[in-house]
Parts: sequence; structure tokens; C-alpha cells
Amino acid sequence: MQGTTRRIETALGLHLPPPDTRPTRLHEALRYAALGGGKRIRPLLCQAAGALAEAPPDALDATGAAIEMVHVYSLVHDDLPAMDDDDLRRGKPTVHVAYDEATAILVGDALQAQAFFTLSELPLPAERRIALVRELAQAGGSRHLVGGQAIDLQSAGRSLSQPALEQMHRMKTGALIRAAVRMGALCGLADTPANAALYRALDDYSNAIGLAFQVVDDILDATADTATLGKTAGKDADDDKPTCVSMLGLAASRALAGELRERAHAALAPLGPGARRLGQLADLVIQRAH
Ligand code: IPE
Ligand code: IPE
Ligand code: MG
Ligand code: MG
Ligand code: MG
Repeated sequence: MQGTTRRIETALGLHLPPPDTRPTRLHEALRYAALGGGKRIRPLLCQAAGALAEAPPDALDATGAAIEMVHVYSLVHDDLPAMDDDDLRRGKPTVHVAYDEATAILVGDALQAQAFFTLSELPLPAERRIALVRELAQAGGSRHLVGGQAIDLQSAGRSLSQPALEQMHRMKTGALIRAAVRMGALCGLADTPANAALYRALDDYSNAIGLAFQVVDDILDATADTATLGKTAGKDADDDKPTCVSMLGLAASRALAGELRERAHAALAPLGPGARRLGQLADLVIQRAH
């Protein structure tokens, strides 16, 4: 996995504009946000699903980089004063602290555009590139990631029912995780009736780990320390955000994460040994909270 992570880092560096591109301060900030940190879970999922579909490695690298760009943009904007107002991310000052607020907004905007540019240039047939663009656009849009962020912000100081909380988690976090898995597979095999069994299994898997990912993030916010997280611990409680921990309690949140891990593994069972890496990634995501 370390080798794959290094490969992901290299691909990301290559698919971002070079740091001496003008305006240089913006491009430095862009690389500051995207490079040298983060778990790279989404590109790792993309690689693992792609291997299962025998996808070409260069297409997978670029696709993983595009997904990570959208993720990083969402983090840069999530940290802005108008949103979660965080000053630490991946163990470094957030972009609006290291640079300024306008630069952080522009870094997010540029990363999102660069992600779709990267997909448009993939070494794959045009119709497959369109399928990939569509997948990322849906997951990143107002019905999913951005909509989930809107619900998150308007829910501060309120409580949410468990179904509403789950819906918010699936939108703000689960959708991009699911897209990462599907896009890896799409680099190798079209989502046609002939491949329906693969896509059904991957959907069941990614629906489980997509939700689990935010459940674990909520648990860690409440239980881990700032140095371990590389972002400010205890922020959700400080901001009075409804989270899994505040709504269900810690024990029930951990039980839910464990249940989702089981569900992820069960979904992979029909795919055989080729799905081992996806299983390991589910463990990696979920064991962080125990
Ligand atoms: C944090 O994502 C934000 C959520 C969507 C929960 P990650 O935990 O994947 O953050 P990095 O990429 O490792 O920094
Ligand atoms: C962020 O959720 C989800 C997205 C960025 C889309 P959080 O606000 O919980 O993420 P962290 O904890 O700041 O990483
Ligand atoms: Mg947030
Ligand atoms: Mg946040
Ligand atoms: Mg969080």
C-alpha cells in the first residue's frame, strides 16, 4: 500500500499545474493543499477497484488524482471561516491561514476545474471519459457532497433523526467514496448489464464504507487528539454539530462502524480473492476508530 500511495502522490503532482505557473502564489497554495499529506483513501479505493476490473494503470492514476483533487477542494472549503473555521489540516495550517481566505476559495475552485480537465484527458475512449466525468460531477454536486455540506452547516445547534444524520453522512462523504470505487472499475469495465454483478457488489461495498467513513471521522473527532488527527480534535462538539457520537453515543457509533465493516466484507464475498485489497481498505478505514 505504501508503494501505491507513493504512486498516487506522484500522479497528483504531475496532474497539478507546476508551481512556477503564473500566478505563482495561487499555484503554490494549490500544491500546498494537495501534496504531502492525507491518507489518500479515495485514490487507494480507486486503484483497488480498478485492479479488479483490470483497468490500465495510467488511467487509474489520473482518475485517482482527479478524485483526490475534488476531495482536497472540499477540505479547503470545509475549513474556511464561513464553514467549519479550522486552522489545522493534515498537520499543517489550513490554506486560508497559511495564505489568505480569498486564495483558499480560489484554490478550491481551481482544484475542482483541474479534476474535470484531468478526466477529460484520460487515455480511454471518449464515452468512458464521459461516464467518469458524469460520476464525479454527480458525487461532487448539490445532491451529494455540496448538498451534504449545506445540511451539515444548517444543522449546527440542532439534532437530527438517525435517518437524517445517515442521509447527511452519505451525501457529504459517502458519495465521493462510492464514486472513487465506481470510477476505478469504470476505468476497466463499462457499467453494462454484462457487468451488473460486479457493479452491484461494488455499490453494496461502497455504500457500507462510505457511511462508515464519516461515522469513524465523527468518532475520532470526539476521541483522538489533535496531533494524531492532524486536524483540531473536539471541533464537532465545540461547534455543536449533530454527529454520530452526539446523536447515538460512542458505543452505538462504534457498533455501527463494526456492523458496516461486516456489511462491506459480505458485499465483497461474491467477487473472490481479487477483492482482497478492497477488504483491507475497509478494515483500514474502520479500525481507526477502535
Ligand atoms: C476527511 O477526509 C473529511 C471527510 C470527508 C470525513 P479524510 O479523513 O479522507 O482526510 P485526509 O484526506 O486523510 O486528510
Ligand atoms: C467534511 O466533514 C466532509 C467534507 C469535507 C465533504 P467534516 O467537517 O467532519 O470533515 P473534517 O472533520 O473537517 O475533516
Ligand atoms: Mg464540515
Ligand atoms: Mg470540518
Ligand atoms: Mg469531521
